[in-house]
Amino acid sequence: QTALIHRFNGIPFTTRSSPDLLKSLDAFDAREDDILLVSYPKSGTHWLAQIIMQIYTPKVTLTSPIEFGDISRVEELNNLSSKRIIPTHLDYNMLPSNFKVKQCKAFYIIRNPKDTAVSMYHYYRDNPNLPTIDSWTVFLELFLRGDVVCGSWFDHFLSWEEHKNDRNILFLFYEDMKKDLPKVVKKMSVFLGVNISDSEIKEICEKSSFTEMKSNVEKENSDPNHTVCALTSNRKLIFRKGAVGDWKNHFTPKENKMFEEMFNKKMKLSELAKQIIYEC
Ligand code: A3P
Repeated sequence: QTALIHRFNGIPFTTRSSPDLLKSLDAFDAREDDILLVSYPKSGTHWLAQIIMQIYTPKVTLTSPIEFGDISRVEELNNLSSKRIIPTHLDYNMLPSNFKVKQCKAFYIIRNPKDTAVSMYHYYRDNPNLPTIDSWTVFLELFLRGDVVCGSWFDHFLSWEEHKNDRNILFLFYEDMKKDLPKVVKKMSVFLGVNISDSEIKEICEKSSFTEMKSNVEKENSDPNHTVCALTSNRKLIFRKGAVGDWKNHFTPKENKMFEEMFNKKMKLSELAKQIIYEC
């Protein structure tokens, strides 16, 4: 059970991220044209990846998360000759400094943490790489304490929010993508400096709909090199419901109050965070 998890810099990681790799990451050699897909787990990383891969069409390689695997990962990534799209769940402080020095473009996707918690709860339950969870109530306590993989949602978000005005980082809301995907895709392509037509945008949106992505995954065989999540090689676990507001089916009024108290305390100074939690 606990053998599935180890801590690095105080943050829980699964054994799929080796301590040696984590230690070596700060010396990682970034390239100016690398693109980072940053998220706290269960915020819509796969969705974002699907869109970016279509904006770029071939020629680029979507890697598995930089913190995933053992020390051989570094060489593997170094050896890629094409442009790299690199997902990561690392918080800002742990991001290899070379990405910061080279001002690589990064997307940070945020989702209402209540829905993120619910999504992560189901993920824990279905994923043999993660510890067993007795109930939603128990999981929620762990989530609020930051005692889950990748640590505290609050700390993760705050570490990145400090950089919300950096010109090389674009913040995206899962909820905005649900509301008006073409608008978000357009914004992403402008940020990347890639020209795409309205009909291409339309096609990208169709191909990255929840139904389309879920049915594709059911057709294909599970390929460990295909996942952008460091916590599983089983892509089928990713596409559960894809909805906004599923938290309402899980939180009791008391749990909601507890969540909001914690949220208000931790997010006192955060403008971005208030938008997410009170509008969804
Ligand atoms: P749910 O568990 O609420 O369904 P990540 O990719 O960061 O692991 O996030 C997974 C969550 O994003 C899951 O949430 C999944 O269903 C949702 N998701 C994946 N693809 C999606 C899409 N095309 N549209 C909407 N939600 C999507």
